[in-house]
Amino acid sequence: MTDMTEENLTDRAVERWSQVPDPRLRAVMTALVRHVHAFVREIEPSEAEWFAGIDWLTRVGQMSSQKRQEFILASDVLGVSMLVDAINHRLPSGATPSTIEGPFHVSHSQELADGANMAAGAPGMPCFVTGKVTDLEGRPIAGASLDVWQTDGEGLYEAQRPGAEQYMRAIYRTRADGHYLIRTVRPIAYTIPMDGPVGALVKRTNISEYRPAHFHCCLEAPGYARIVTHLFRNGDPYLGSDVVFGVKAPLITEFAEKQAGERAPDGSLMDEKFCVIAYDFVLQPSR
Ligand code: BEZ
Ligand code: FE
Repeated sequence: MTDMTEENLTDRAVERWSQVPDPRLRAVMTALVRHVHAFVREIEPSEAEWFAGIDWLTRVGQMSSQKRQEFILASDVLGVSMLVDAINHRLPSGATPSTIEGPFHVSHSQELADGANMAAGAPGMPCFVTGKVTDLEGRPIAGASLDVWQTDGEGLYEAQRPGAEQYMRAIYRTRADGHYLIRTVRPIAYTIPMDGPVGALVKRTNISEYRPAHFHCCLEAPGYARIVTHLFRNGDPYLGSDVVFGVKAPLITEFAEKQAGERAPDGSLMDEKFCVIAYDFVLQPSR
């Protein structure tokens, strides 16, 4: 076929990509061609609009580095990261659901003792995160690791505090009875990075750039499926509009405010207001 027309172009392109020998690549590429053609047919871009789109993708690439992944952020704000997460983590009911990892996780945090403070010197209201890790039958899982990270009380992660090292992150391990205790400061709602092309796009809309206050946690234990998840603050005004679609109902929990003079979960008498997040995680066996 040498006569390409508006009518036959999509079929011709799908036919060509149908010849690819690798079956998975063939399936991925023919679907991509069909969907991109359908998108272009639907919006009928002017050439200027098409080049503006290409320019935006170029800037997304240029903004990306070892420390900043603007393509992931783009996938996050389009809801695609959460869709990939949902497809890959179809958990049995009762297991703690997963949610988006986000760009601020730092691997190989230092392991801290049960109850140790991972926010020493950080601004914010003192906060204790406590509970247990169990299997689907409620049996405690000893020695499960909780790799945790969050913003400080001003909404900033380690990567946003130049020079900070091992800041607002740590690994904890459950005790023999499956319990864990983390001392930190209360995380607050914050905006996704708005200084790149994704932020520039969001600013042209009426979409909120905020994420509700949350605490990130990756749980691992031998014999159980690893999960990456969050704990969200019940009552946060951004729960319903999370810019990256990360909220799942079972992950919404009380960030309970306590008064000075009350005892903290580690038994200490507190001389200022503090917060307690009590949450039990449930892991499913690995396949
Ligand atoms: C986060 O929760 O850290 C996050 C997730 C997606 C995009 C930006 C930040
Ligand atoms: Fe976060």
